[in-house]
Amino acid sequence: MISPETARAPVRRSTVEALIRNMPKAELHLHIEGTLEPELMLSLAERNGVSLGFGTVEEARKAYAFTDMQSFLDIYYEGARVLLKEQDFYDMTWAYLERVHAENVRHVEIFFDPQAHTDRGVAFETVISGIHHALIDGEEQFDMSTGLIMCFLRHLSAAAARETLQRVLPYRNWIVGVGLDSSEVGHPPEKFKVVFDEARDAGLLAVAHAGEEGPPEYVWQALELLRVKRIDHGVRCIEDERLVQRLKEERIPLTVCPLSNVRLRVFDTIDDHNIKQILDRGLCVTVNSDDPAYFGGYITENFLAVQRALNLGKEDIHRLGRNAFEAAFLDEERKHALIGMLERFMERH
Ligand code: ADE
Ligand code: ZN
Repeated sequence: MISPETARAPVRRSTVEALIRNMPKAELHLHIEGTLEPELMLSLAERNGVSLGFGTVEEARKAYAFTDMQSFLDIYYEGARVLLKEQDFYDMTWAYLERVHAENVRHVEIFFDPQAHTDRGVAFETVISGIHHALIDGEEQFDMSTGLIMCFLRHLSAAAARETLQRVLPYRNWIVGVGLDSSEVGHPPEKFKVVFDEARDAGLLAVAHAGEEGPPEYVWQALELLRVKRIDHGVRCIEDERLVQRLKEERIPLTVCPLSNVRLRVFDTIDDHNIKQILDRGLCVTVNSDDPAYFGGYITENFLAVQRALNLGKEDIHRLGRNAFEAAFLDEERKHALIGMLERFMERH
């Protein structure tokens, strides 16, 4: 016979699961090139006559057995080679927007890596136009707001980052800010201080990946030298008490990506993830998907993974969801409207 406890448990869990699936969400840490699902990648490869290291969806998924950041980045840049024309960038972006619209995502901020394309001979305009036009169409069709953030590849030189900034200036109104990604260790934020100063002078906001594989010192540099408004990942902040205090006092958001962290071995298993600890320390932490096609899940799956592993309750999910709207690069009116939408949802569920 099923005891009352056993009978109740699944009901309670499915309630939190339903809450996660249905609540209005914002995603703030998403590399658009990391949304390229093997099916679309292979069809673009065929359309453009590009030959890849894998010929089938199964072979591609098998190749996604990463052991660390570099083994992932090697495959990520290989996959990006299928993107050649404006339509390719449009199709990739559109596929992502359609997908997360179905998950009730109401605001997204999207990273793109122009140097991964311009270094292969694809024009900057081709890249940004394809992505931008998909975002405009998504806003119209899906009642969604969007922002575009241009990342500098930190394994390349500071001079190359400065050239890339110059290329975006004619499209200044299409982007909200700049970011810093790719291999973290050995490429500290200080290397990019000048280009971040130039970006700020152009009125752009700043974020940076820091404290993912790199030490807390890199998070300090991102704050003090690059003057970022948010830290991408930042999970290693917990090793430095003074840093935790600083992030808390200034309410600097951390855009955390749980499934990515496990696949890239930042944590051994999802049970070891420290997002609940960071949340309980009072930091403005958010849940995001990073590169969902490679790491096994979009934003909802990331929420569900930590909810199950760390036994998060409704209050935790509410706080994580609200933090993302508060941390968004949005005007006050839209932000207020989205927070109101979330609050009404939470009252009803
Ligand atoms: N580029 C794409 N995904 C990344 C990640 N998780 N860290 C650094 N650079 C990236
Ligand atoms: Zn990232």
